Amino acid sequence: MSMILGAMIFYPGGEHLASWRLPGARPERYLDLGYYRDFARTAERGGFATLFIADELYVWDRFASGIDHVVNIRTEPFTLLGALSQVTERIGLAATVSTTYNEPYHIARKLASLDFLSEGRAGWNVVTSASDEEAWNFGRDANLDHAVRYRRAAEFIDVVNGLWDSWDDDAFRYDKESGYFADAAKLHTLDHRGEFFTVRGPLNIARPPQGRPVIFQAGASEAGRALAGATAEAVFTMGTNAVRGAKILYDDYKARAAANGRNPDHLKVLPALSPVIGGTLREAEEYLDEIEALTPERLSLDWLSHYLQFDVSSHPMDETFQPDLSVPTNQVRSVQEQIGRLVGSGSYTLREVNRALLRRRFLVGTPDMIADWMTERYRAGAADGFMLAFSSIPVGVEAFVDLVVPELTKRGVYHGGYRGRTHRENLGLPVPPSRYA
Ligand SMILES: Cc1cc2nc3c(=O)[nH]c(=O)nc-3n(C[C@H](O)[C@H](O)[C@H](O)COP(=O)(O)O)c2cc1C
Repeated sequence: MSMILGAMIFYPGGEHLASWRLPGARPERYLDLGYYRDFARTAERGGFATLFIADELYVWDRFASGIDHVVNIRTEPFTLLGALSQVTERIGLAATVSTTYNEPYHIARKLASLDFLSEGRAGWNVVTSASDEEAWNFGRDANLDHAVRYRRAAEFIDVVNGLWDSWDDDAFRYDKESGYFADAAKLHTLDHRGEFFTVRGPLNIARPPQGRPVIFQAGASEAGRALAGATAEAVFTMGTNAVRGAKILYDDYKARAAANGRNPDHLKVLPALSPVIGGTLREAEEYLDEIEALTPERLSLDWLSHYLQFDVSSHPMDETFQPDLSVPTNQVRSVQEQIGRLVGSGSYTLREVNRALLRRRFLVGTPDMIADWMTERYRAGAADGFMLAFSSIPVGVEAFVDLVVPELTKRGVYHGGYRGRTHRENLGLPVPPSRYA
Protein backbone atom coordinates (compact mmCIF):
# COMPACT_ATOMS: atom_id res chain seq x y z
CA MET A 1 0.00 0.00 0.00
CA SER A 2 1.22 3.44 -0.89
CA MET A 3 1.42 6.37 1.49
CA ILE A 4 -2.03 8.03 1.75
CA LEU A 5 -2.35 11.74 1.05
CA GLY A 6 -5.27 13.93 2.04
CA ALA A 7 -5.77 17.63 1.32
CA MET A 8 -7.66 19.72 3.81
CA ILE A 9 -9.06 23.21 3.95
CA PHE A 10 -9.58 24.66 7.40
CA TYR A 11 -9.43 28.36 6.60
CA PRO A 12 -10.25 28.94 2.93
CA GLY A 13 -6.90 30.64 2.34
CA GLY A 14 -4.72 28.07 4.07
CA GLU A 15 -3.71 26.82 7.47
CA HIS A 16 -2.48 30.03 9.00
CA LEU A 17 -4.62 32.84 10.39
CA ALA A 18 -2.85 35.22 8.01
CA SER A 19 -2.63 32.99 4.92
CA TRP A 20 -5.29 35.05 3.19
CA ARG A 21 -2.85 37.97 3.01
CA LEU A 22 -0.07 36.09 1.21
CA PRO A 23 0.88 36.77 -2.40
CA GLY A 24 -1.27 34.58 -4.64
CA ALA A 25 -4.10 34.33 -2.07
CA ARG A 26 -7.55 35.07 -3.51
CA PRO A 27 -9.79 36.03 -0.57
CA GLU A 28 -12.45 37.47 -2.86
CA ARG A 29 -13.00 33.92 -4.23
CA TYR A 30 -13.57 32.19 -0.88
CA LEU A 31 -17.27 31.70 -1.59
CA ASP A 32 -16.88 30.69 -5.25
CA LEU A 33 -17.25 27.09 -6.35
CA GLY A 34 -14.47 27.57 -8.91
CA TYR A 35 -11.94 28.25 -6.18
CA TYR A 36 -12.61 24.87 -4.55
CA ARG A 37 -12.94 23.10 -7.90
CA ASP A 38 -9.44 24.24 -8.83
CA PHE A 39 -8.10 23.10 -5.47
CA ALA A 40 -9.81 19.70 -5.79
CA ARG A 41 -8.56 19.14 -9.31
CA THR A 42 -5.00 19.99 -8.32
CA ALA A 43 -5.27 17.50 -5.45
CA GLU A 44 -6.70 14.92 -7.85
CA ARG A 45 -3.77 15.48 -10.19
CA GLY A 46 -1.55 14.60 -7.22
CA GLY A 47 -3.54 11.41 -6.56
CA PHE A 48 -4.85 12.57 -3.19
CA ALA A 49 -7.27 10.06 -1.67
CA THR A 50 -9.23 12.64 0.31
CA LEU A 51 -10.35 16.23 0.07
CA PHE A 52 -11.44 17.28 3.54
CA ILE A 53 -13.44 20.44 4.25
CA ALA A 54 -13.14 21.40 7.91
CA ASP A 55 -15.88 23.36 9.63
CA GLU A 56 -16.87 25.37 12.66
CA LEU A 57 -20.30 26.73 13.49
CA TYR A 58 -19.53 30.28 14.56
CA VAL A 59 -17.70 33.49 13.86
CA TRP A 60 -14.75 33.88 16.19
CA ASP A 61 -15.68 37.22 17.72
CA ARG A 62 -14.61 36.68 21.32
CA PHE A 63 -11.82 39.13 20.57
CA ALA A 64 -12.02 42.09 18.21
CA SER A 65 -9.04 40.84 16.23
CA GLY A 66 -11.11 37.80 15.27
CA ILE A 67 -13.45 40.04 13.31
CA ASP A 68 -10.88 42.41 11.91
CA HIS A 69 -8.16 40.02 10.85
CA VAL A 70 -9.41 36.44 10.63
CA VAL A 71 -11.09 34.76 7.68
CA ASN A 72 -14.50 34.46 9.30
CA ILE A 73 -16.53 33.17 6.37
CA ARG A 74 -16.79 29.65 4.98
CA THR A 75 -19.20 27.64 2.83
CA GLU A 76 -21.32 24.93 4.41
CA PRO A 77 -19.36 21.71 3.68
CA PHE A 78 -22.12 19.39 2.43
CA THR A 79 -23.42 21.94 -0.05
CA LEU A 80 -19.90 22.54 -1.28
CA LEU A 81 -19.01 18.84 -1.51
CA GLY A 82 -22.26 18.09 -3.34
CA ALA A 83 -21.24 20.60 -5.98
CA LEU A 84 -17.64 19.34 -6.04
CA SER A 85 -18.85 15.78 -6.55
CA GLN A 86 -19.97 16.88 -10.02
CA VAL A 87 -16.72 18.52 -11.08
CA THR A 88 -14.26 15.93 -9.76
CA GLU A 89 -13.78 12.28 -10.67
CA ARG A 90 -11.86 10.27 -8.12
CA ILE A 91 -11.00 12.17 -4.96
CA GLY A 92 -12.81 11.30 -1.70
CA LEU A 93 -15.00 14.07 -0.29
CA ALA A 94 -15.10 14.44 3.49
CA ALA A 95 -16.95 17.03 5.57
CA THR A 96 -16.62 17.92 9.21
CA VAL A 97 -19.76 17.06 11.15
CA SER A 98 -20.43 18.26 14.68
CA THR A 99 -22.08 15.54 16.72
CA THR A 100 -22.96 18.09 19.39
CA TYR A 101 -24.98 20.39 17.15
CA ASN A 102 -26.62 17.96 14.74
CA GLU A 103 -29.12 15.15 14.84
CA PRO A 104 -28.02 11.74 13.52
CA TYR A 105 -30.99 11.26 11.19
CA HIS A 106 -30.11 14.46 9.29
CA ILE A 107 -26.47 13.52 8.99
CA ALA A 108 -27.13 9.92 7.94
CA ARG A 109 -29.29 11.24 5.08
CA LYS A 110 -26.84 13.92 3.99
CA LEU A 111 -23.86 11.58 3.94
CA ALA A 112 -25.78 8.82 2.18
CA SER A 113 -26.92 11.37 -0.41
CA LEU A 114 -23.37 12.63 -0.92
CA ASP A 115 -22.20 9.04 -1.25
CA PHE A 116 -24.73 8.40 -4.03
CA LEU A 117 -24.11 11.70 -5.83
CA SER A 118 -20.34 11.17 -5.75
CA GLU A 119 -20.59 7.44 -6.55
CA GLY A 120 -18.99 6.23 -3.36
CA ARG A 121 -16.66 9.05 -2.40
CA ALA A 122 -18.19 10.44 0.83
CA GLY A 123 -16.56 10.70 4.24
CA TRP A 124 -17.14 12.54 7.52
CA ASN A 125 -14.85 13.98 10.11
CA VAL A 126 -16.56 13.53 13.45
CA VAL A 127 -15.94 16.48 15.78
CA THR A 128 -17.52 17.28 19.12
CA SER A 129 -17.20 21.10 18.72
CA ALA A 130 -15.20 22.82 21.38
CA SER A 131 -16.19 26.49 21.52
CA ASP A 132 -18.79 28.21 23.62
CA GLU A 133 -19.47 30.43 20.62
CA GLU A 134 -20.91 27.36 18.92
CA ALA A 135 -23.13 26.61 21.93
CA TRP A 136 -24.56 30.14 21.75
CA ASN A 137 -25.83 29.45 18.23
CA PHE A 138 -27.70 26.33 19.29
CA GLY A 139 -29.69 27.28 22.35
CA ARG A 140 -27.07 26.70 25.04
CA ASP A 141 -25.19 29.08 27.32
CA ALA A 142 -22.05 26.99 27.30
CA ASN A 143 -20.69 23.97 25.52
CA LEU A 144 -21.44 20.50 26.86
CA ASP A 145 -18.80 19.00 29.12
CA HIS A 146 -15.91 17.38 27.30
CA ALA A 147 -16.84 13.88 28.54
CA VAL A 148 -20.52 14.34 27.70
CA ARG A 149 -19.62 15.55 24.19
CA TYR A 150 -17.62 12.41 23.56
CA ARG A 151 -20.36 10.11 24.93
CA ARG A 152 -22.82 11.86 22.64
CA ALA A 153 -20.42 11.44 19.69
CA ALA A 154 -20.17 7.68 20.29
CA GLU A 155 -23.94 7.29 20.40
CA PHE A 156 -24.32 9.57 17.36
CA ILE A 157 -22.00 7.38 15.27
CA ASP A 158 -23.78 4.23 16.38
CA VAL A 159 -27.17 5.66 15.36
CA VAL A 160 -25.88 6.89 11.99
CA ASN A 161 -24.32 3.50 11.25
CA GLY A 162 -27.56 1.80 12.24
CA LEU A 163 -29.64 4.08 10.01
CA TRP A 164 -27.40 3.37 7.03
CA ASP A 165 -28.19 -0.31 7.47
CA SER A 166 -31.95 0.35 7.26
CA TRP A 167 -32.30 -1.29 3.86
CA ASP A 168 -30.51 -4.42 2.71
CA ASP A 169 -28.53 -3.89 -0.46
CA ASP A 170 -31.04 -5.87 -2.51
CA ALA A 171 -34.15 -4.38 -0.88
CA PHE A 172 -35.30 -2.43 -3.92
CA ARG A 173 -37.07 -4.29 -6.70
CA TYR A 174 -38.30 -1.40 -8.88
CA ASP A 175 -40.70 -3.95 -10.36
CA LYS A 176 -43.22 -2.06 -12.46
CA GLU A 177 -44.98 -5.28 -13.45
CA SER A 178 -45.85 -6.46 -9.94
CA GLY A 179 -45.97 -2.97 -8.44
CA TYR A 180 -43.37 -3.79 -5.78
CA PHE A 181 -40.93 -0.94 -5.32
CA ALA A 182 -39.24 -2.45 -2.27
CA ASP A 183 -39.24 -5.69 -0.33
CA ALA A 184 -40.55 -5.03 3.18
CA ALA A 185 -38.71 -8.07 4.55
CA LYS A 186 -35.44 -6.34 3.73
CA LEU A 187 -36.18 -3.22 5.74
CA HIS A 188 -34.92 -2.79 9.31
CA THR A 189 -36.35 -0.30 11.79
CA LEU A 190 -33.68 0.92 14.19
CA ASP A 191 -35.84 1.70 17.26
CA HIS A 192 -32.89 3.32 19.04
CA ARG A 193 -33.36 4.68 22.56
CA GLY A 194 -30.21 5.93 24.22
CA GLU A 195 -28.84 8.61 26.54
CA PHE A 196 -29.02 11.33 23.89
CA PHE A 197 -31.12 10.14 20.99
CA THR A 198 -34.42 8.45 20.35
CA VAL A 199 -34.58 7.46 16.70
CA ARG A 200 -37.11 5.08 15.29
CA GLY A 201 -35.86 4.95 11.68
CA PRO A 202 -35.71 3.57 9.09
CA LEU A 203 -33.75 5.95 6.86
CA ASN A 204 -35.45 7.16 3.70
CA ILE A 205 -32.53 6.38 1.43
CA ALA A 206 -30.87 3.13 0.37
CA ARG A 207 -27.68 1.82 1.98
CA PRO A 208 -24.83 4.03 0.66
CA PRO A 209 -22.60 2.71 -2.16
CA GLN A 210 -19.71 2.38 0.31
CA GLY A 211 -21.93 0.68 2.88
CA ARG A 212 -20.86 3.45 5.22
CA PRO A 213 -19.10 6.68 4.25
CA VAL A 214 -15.60 6.73 5.76
CA ILE A 215 -15.32 7.94 9.39
CA PHE A 216 -12.46 10.33 10.15
CA GLN A 217 -11.64 11.81 13.55
CA ALA A 218 -9.11 14.16 15.09
CA GLY A 219 -9.82 13.98 18.80
CA ALA A 220 -6.50 13.93 20.60
CA SER A 221 -7.49 13.81 24.28
CA GLU A 222 -7.95 10.51 26.12
CA ALA A 223 -11.68 10.56 25.35
CA GLY A 224 -10.95 11.47 21.73
CA ARG A 225 -8.49 8.64 21.28
CA ALA A 226 -10.82 6.15 22.93
CA LEU A 227 -13.57 7.08 20.48
CA ALA A 228 -11.17 6.82 17.54
CA GLY A 229 -10.02 3.38 18.65
CA ALA A 230 -13.61 2.20 18.78
CA THR A 231 -15.02 3.81 15.65
CA ALA A 232 -12.68 5.85 13.41
CA GLU A 233 -11.29 4.53 10.14
CA ALA A 234 -8.74 7.33 9.84
CA VAL A 235 -7.44 9.81 12.39
CA PHE A 236 -5.71 13.12 11.85
CA THR A 237 -3.09 13.58 14.51
CA MET A 238 -1.35 16.82 15.28
CA GLY A 239 1.93 16.60 13.42
CA THR A 240 4.65 16.04 15.98
CA ASN A 241 8.19 16.71 14.96
CA ALA A 242 10.08 13.79 16.39
CA VAL A 243 9.74 10.40 14.71
CA ARG A 244 9.71 8.71 18.11
CA GLY A 245 6.74 10.75 19.35
CA ALA A 246 4.84 10.14 16.12
CA LYS A 247 5.52 6.40 16.38
CA ILE A 248 4.26 6.24 19.98
CA LEU A 249 1.06 8.03 18.95
CA TYR A 250 0.65 5.77 15.92
CA ASP A 251 1.08 2.63 17.99
CA ASP A 252 -1.36 3.96 20.57
CA TYR A 253 -4.14 4.37 17.99
CA LYS A 254 -3.44 0.97 16.46
CA ALA A 255 -3.45 -0.71 19.89
CA ARG A 256 -6.76 0.93 20.70
CA ALA A 257 -8.28 -0.40 17.47
CA ALA A 258 -6.99 -3.89 18.29
CA ALA A 259 -8.34 -3.67 21.84
CA ASN A 260 -11.76 -3.01 20.29
CA GLY A 261 -11.49 -6.22 18.30
CA ARG A 262 -10.73 -4.36 15.08
CA ASN A 263 -8.04 -4.88 12.47
CA PRO A 264 -5.49 -2.11 13.28
CA ASP A 265 -4.88 -1.69 9.56
CA HIS A 266 -8.44 -0.43 9.25
CA LEU A 267 -7.63 2.64 11.33
CA LYS A 268 -5.32 4.82 9.24
CA VAL A 269 -3.15 7.30 11.12
CA LEU A 270 -2.59 10.49 9.16
CA PRO A 271 -0.58 13.21 10.90
CA ALA A 272 -1.63 16.69 9.85
CA LEU A 273 1.22 18.38 8.03
CA SER A 274 1.62 22.00 6.94
CA PRO A 275 4.57 22.34 4.60
CA VAL A 276 6.17 25.65 3.74
CA ILE A 277 8.02 24.91 0.52
CA GLY A 278 10.94 26.84 -0.94
CA GLY A 279 13.49 26.33 -3.69
CA THR A 280 16.07 26.50 -0.90
CA LEU A 281 15.72 26.20 2.87
CA ARG A 282 16.44 29.91 3.13
CA GLU A 283 13.63 30.72 0.70
CA ALA A 284 11.18 28.56 2.66
CA GLU A 285 12.21 30.22 5.91
CA GLU A 286 11.70 33.63 4.37
CA TYR A 287 8.21 32.58 3.35
CA LEU A 288 7.44 31.60 6.94
CA ASP A 289 8.87 34.93 8.13
CA GLU A 290 6.52 36.60 5.72
CA ILE A 291 3.51 34.71 7.10
CA GLU A 292 4.53 35.70 10.58
CA ALA A 293 5.09 39.33 9.62
CA LEU A 294 1.58 39.44 8.19
CA THR A 295 0.08 38.27 11.51
CA PRO A 296 -0.77 41.15 13.82
CA GLU A 297 0.68 40.50 17.27
CA ARG A 298 -2.68 41.16 18.87
CA LEU A 299 -4.23 38.44 16.73
CA SER A 300 -1.79 35.74 17.71
CA LEU A 301 -2.14 36.66 21.38
CA ASP A 302 -5.91 36.48 21.09
CA TRP A 303 -5.55 33.06 19.52
CA LEU A 304 -3.53 31.96 22.54
CA SER A 305 -6.10 33.48 24.92
CA HIS A 306 -8.84 31.60 23.13
CA TYR A 307 -7.19 28.25 23.63
CA LEU A 308 -6.19 28.94 27.22
CA GLN A 309 -9.60 30.42 28.05
CA PHE A 310 -8.12 33.45 29.75
CA ASP A 311 -6.88 36.75 28.36
CA VAL A 312 -3.09 36.77 28.10
CA SER A 313 -2.87 40.23 26.56
CA SER A 314 -2.00 42.05 29.79
CA HIS A 315 1.05 39.82 30.33
CA PRO A 316 4.30 41.63 29.36
CA MET A 317 5.63 40.13 26.12
CA ASP A 318 9.20 39.77 27.34
CA GLU A 319 8.56 38.29 30.77
CA THR A 320 8.42 34.59 31.55
CA PHE A 321 5.03 33.14 30.78
CA GLN A 322 3.97 30.52 33.31
CA PRO A 323 0.17 30.23 33.31
CA ASP A 324 -1.65 27.92 35.70
CA LEU A 325 -2.94 25.11 33.48
CA SER A 326 -3.89 22.75 36.29
CA VAL A 327 -7.63 22.96 35.52
CA PRO A 328 -8.41 21.24 32.21
CA THR A 329 -10.22 23.45 29.72
CA ASN A 330 -13.63 22.43 28.43
CA GLN A 331 -12.49 23.46 24.95
CA VAL A 332 -9.72 21.76 23.01
CA ARG A 333 -7.92 19.88 25.75
CA SER A 334 -5.10 18.64 23.59
CA VAL A 335 -4.05 22.17 22.60
CA GLN A 336 -4.01 23.21 26.25
CA GLU A 337 -1.79 20.21 26.97
CA GLN A 338 0.49 21.16 24.11
CA ILE A 339 0.85 24.69 25.48
CA GLY A 340 1.47 23.19 28.92
CA ARG A 341 4.35 21.10 27.58
CA LEU A 342 5.81 24.16 25.90
CA VAL A 343 5.72 26.42 28.95
CA GLY A 344 6.49 23.54 31.31
CA SER A 345 10.13 24.38 31.89
CA GLY A 346 9.22 27.94 32.81
CA SER A 347 12.00 29.46 30.76
CA TYR A 348 10.02 31.03 27.93
CA THR A 349 8.67 34.54 27.62
CA LEU A 350 5.21 35.15 26.25
CA ARG A 351 6.77 36.35 22.99
CA GLU A 352 8.73 33.11 22.66
CA VAL A 353 5.74 30.90 23.50
CA ASN A 354 3.61 32.77 21.04
CA ARG A 355 6.19 32.52 18.30
CA ALA A 356 6.87 28.85 18.93
CA LEU A 357 3.15 28.03 18.75
CA LEU A 358 2.76 29.88 15.47
CA ARG A 359 5.79 28.21 13.94
CA ARG A 360 5.68 24.69 15.29
CA ARG A 361 2.79 23.65 13.05
CA PHE A 362 4.83 24.25 9.90
CA LEU A 363 7.41 22.06 8.24
CA VAL A 364 9.82 24.35 6.43
CA GLY A 365 12.03 23.05 3.65
CA THR A 366 12.81 22.24 0.05
CA PRO A 367 10.68 19.63 -1.75
CA ASP A 368 13.50 17.18 -1.17
CA MET A 369 13.61 17.82 2.57
CA ILE A 370 9.85 17.62 2.96
CA ALA A 371 9.71 14.35 1.01
CA ASP A 372 12.52 12.95 3.20
CA TRP A 373 10.69 13.98 6.37
CA MET A 374 7.48 12.26 5.24
CA THR A 375 9.30 9.18 3.94
CA GLU A 376 11.17 8.72 7.22
CA ARG A 377 7.91 8.68 9.21
CA TYR A 378 6.15 6.44 6.74
CA ARG A 379 8.99 3.92 6.69
CA ALA A 380 9.33 4.02 10.49
CA GLY A 381 5.69 2.96 10.85
CA ALA A 382 4.79 6.29 12.40
CA ALA A 383 2.25 7.33 9.73
CA ASP A 384 0.07 5.64 7.11
CA GLY A 385 0.08 8.92 5.24
CA PHE A 386 -0.50 12.61 5.86
CA MET A 387 -3.32 15.12 5.91
CA LEU A 388 -1.90 18.18 4.19
CA ALA A 389 -3.03 21.52 5.61
CA PHE A 390 -1.37 23.86 3.15
CA SER A 391 0.17 27.01 4.52
CA SER A 392 -1.26 28.88 1.56
CA ILE A 393 -3.90 28.16 -1.08
CA PRO A 394 -3.67 27.85 -4.02
CA VAL A 395 0.13 28.36 -4.08
CA GLY A 396 0.88 25.68 -1.46
CA VAL A 397 -1.16 22.87 -2.98
CA GLU A 398 0.22 23.51 -6.46
CA ALA A 399 3.79 23.55 -5.19
CA PHE A 400 3.22 20.35 -3.24
CA VAL A 401 1.72 18.47 -6.19
CA ASP A 402 4.30 19.75 -8.70
CA LEU A 403 7.39 19.51 -6.51
CA VAL A 404 6.93 17.19 -3.51
CA VAL A 405 4.74 14.47 -5.06
CA PRO A 406 7.43 13.59 -7.68
CA GLU A 407 10.01 13.34 -4.88
CA LEU A 408 7.77 10.96 -2.91
CA THR A 409 7.21 8.90 -6.04
CA LYS A 410 10.94 8.77 -6.70
CA ARG A 411 11.47 7.40 -3.18
CA GLY A 412 8.99 4.58 -3.90
CA VAL A 413 6.70 5.41 -0.99
CA TYR A 414 3.94 7.04 -3.00
CA HIS A 415 2.31 5.62 -6.08
CA GLY A 416 -0.01 8.48 -6.99
CA GLY A 417 -3.09 7.75 -9.05
CA TYR A 418 -6.13 5.91 -7.80
CA ARG A 419 -6.25 2.23 -7.03
CA GLY A 420 -10.04 2.06 -6.90
CA ARG A 421 -13.30 3.86 -7.57
CA THR A 422 -14.48 4.56 -4.06
CA HIS A 423 -13.02 6.57 -1.20
CA ARG A 424 -12.72 3.35 0.83
CA GLU A 425 -10.85 1.55 -1.91
CA ASN A 426 -8.39 4.41 -2.23
CA LEU A 427 -7.78 4.43 1.51
CA GLY A 428 -7.39 0.65 1.66
CA LEU A 429 -10.50 0.19 3.80
CA PRO A 430 -13.04 -2.65 3.48
CA VAL A 431 -16.79 -2.16 3.08
CA PRO A 432 -18.35 -2.79 6.51
CA PRO A 433 -21.12 -5.40 6.45
CA SER A 434 -24.61 -4.37 7.47
CA ARG A 435 -25.37 -5.13 11.12
CA TYR A 436 -28.26 -7.26 9.85
CA ALA A 437 -26.18 -9.27 7.36
C1 LIG B 1 -6.29 18.01 11.12
C2 LIG B 1 -7.34 18.43 12.07
C3 LIG B 1 -8.57 18.89 11.60
C4 LIG B 1 -9.56 19.31 12.45
N1 LIG B 1 -10.75 19.79 11.96
C5 LIG B 1 -11.69 20.26 12.79
C6 LIG B 1 -12.92 20.81 12.30
O1 LIG B 1 -13.15 20.88 11.10
N2 LIG B 1 -13.81 21.30 13.19
C7 LIG B 1 -13.61 21.25 14.54
O2 LIG B 1 -14.46 21.71 15.28
N3 LIG B 1 -12.47 20.71 15.03
C8 LIG B 1 -11.54 20.24 14.19
N4 LIG B 1 -10.37 19.71 14.68
C9 LIG B 1 -10.24 19.59 16.13
C10 LIG B 1 -10.54 18.18 16.59
O3 LIG B 1 -11.73 17.69 16.10
C11 LIG B 1 -10.63 18.09 18.07
O4 LIG B 1 -11.67 18.90 18.53
C12 LIG B 1 -9.37 18.54 18.69
O5 LIG B 1 -8.30 17.78 18.19
C13 LIG B 1 -9.43 18.45 20.16
O6 LIG B 1 -9.81 17.21 20.56
P1 LIG B 1 -9.77 16.85 22.07
O7 LIG B 1 -10.89 17.56 22.76
O8 LIG B 1 -9.97 15.36 22.02
O9 LIG B 1 -8.45 17.30 22.55
C14 LIG B 1 -9.35 19.27 13.84
C15 LIG B 1 -8.11 18.80 14.32
C16 LIG B 1 -7.11 18.38 13.47
C17 LIG B 1 -5.81 17.90 14.02
